[in-house]
Amino acid sequence: MNPTVSIVLVAFFFAVATAAPQPNQERPEDPEPVVTVTTCGGSVNASSTSIEFQLGGSIRADMRCIWLVQAPYFSQRFTLVASGLQETDGLFITPVLWDGLGTSQKLSTLRQNLTLTSKSVLITLIVGHAPTLGFKMVYYASGSSVFPNITSHAILTTSKGNLTYPSNGGLYRINQRVLFPIAPSVPGQPTLRFTRVDIEPGSSCQFDWTRIYNWFDGDYRQVAIFCGGTIPTSVTFQDGAGVVFFYSDSSVTGTGFDFQYE
Ligand SMILES: *[C@@H]1O[C@H](CO)[C@@H](O)[C@H](O)[C@H]1NC(C)=O
Ligand SMILES: *[C@@H]1O[C@H](CO)[C@@H](O)[C@H](O)[C@H]1NC(C)=O
Ligand SMILES: *[C@@H]1O[C@H](CO)[C@@H](O)[C@H](O)[C@H]1NC(C)=O
Ligand SMILES: *[C@@H]1O[C@H](CO)[C@@H](O)[C@H](O)[C@H]1NC(C)=O
Repeated sequence: MNPTVSIVLVAFFFAVATAAPQPNQERPEDPEPVVTVTTCGGSVNASSTSIEFQLGGSIRADMRCIWLVQAPYFSQRFTLVASGLQETDGLFITPVLWDGLGTSQKLSTLRQNLTLTSKSVLITLIVGHAPTLGFKMVYYASGSSVFPNITSHAILTTSKGNLTYPSNGGLYRINQRVLFPIAPSVPGQPTLRFTRVDIEPGSSCQFDWTRIYNWFDGDYRQVAIFCGGTIPTSVTFQDGAGVVFFYSDSSVTGTGFDFQYE
């Protein structure tokens, strides 16, 4: 062992000893949210967060916003605290599972608790065809520590764009779970086109895959799963939001894919 390694180890054990965690310590919820997010969509990973979008103001018709929550503790409780949203609007909570997006649940009643244990969750704001008023919702994470299992993501909010995965070219890595939610901040109906696909093949794409989800009638509906060199047919997000979800298993990779939306 070289001297640098021993110093690092000594420092490490000292840090562990002074932090003195209790065995199996269960982290309680924060008394108040420690972070406030006021943007339309974004990535949040604090132990608790207040998401306040246009609280006391108005939101344009057909607006879509997607937040990705990757909390550091096992259990996440979501609650709507204040809301000017109408019946035709919705705030939806969607678990991100290893085999795809789970079923979305609408957070509609004030102070109702929705508790999930899936590590990563999408929150989607869907505004109906009329302007509406803002809201405030909070989440609190608690329980044992967890590492997020989304390996990378980008929330795409421009009205059109191009994307190459992996972005630096070359082969994608094993054990990846990558999310590309697409929700243009100027409401529209973008069409998503893949122009290149090189993903480990499988007869039912059971090894590595890309799935496309199209938001429709209260949930993300899977409209395609593909692998190998298959270029899927283009998809129009008629309701203004969708998700591209890529998964790789523990062996054999490829050079990924290119897509564009407009
Ligand atoms: C948490 O979010 C911060 C700020 O957005 C970011 O810098 C950090 O890398 C994130 N951590 C994880 C584990 O995603
Ligand atoms: C992340 O971990 C949770 C809890 O183990 C699991 O339910 C979920 O399917 C995983 N999601 C992904 C994207 O691997
Ligand atoms: C939601 O959970 C919190 C914290 O556990 C609790 O204080 C509150 O009473 C719950 N609300 C409802 C409506 O059950
Ligand atoms: C994507 O890139 C291609 C080639 O570079 C270009 O022709 C096209 O206009 C781009 N599309 C968008 C939506 O930016």
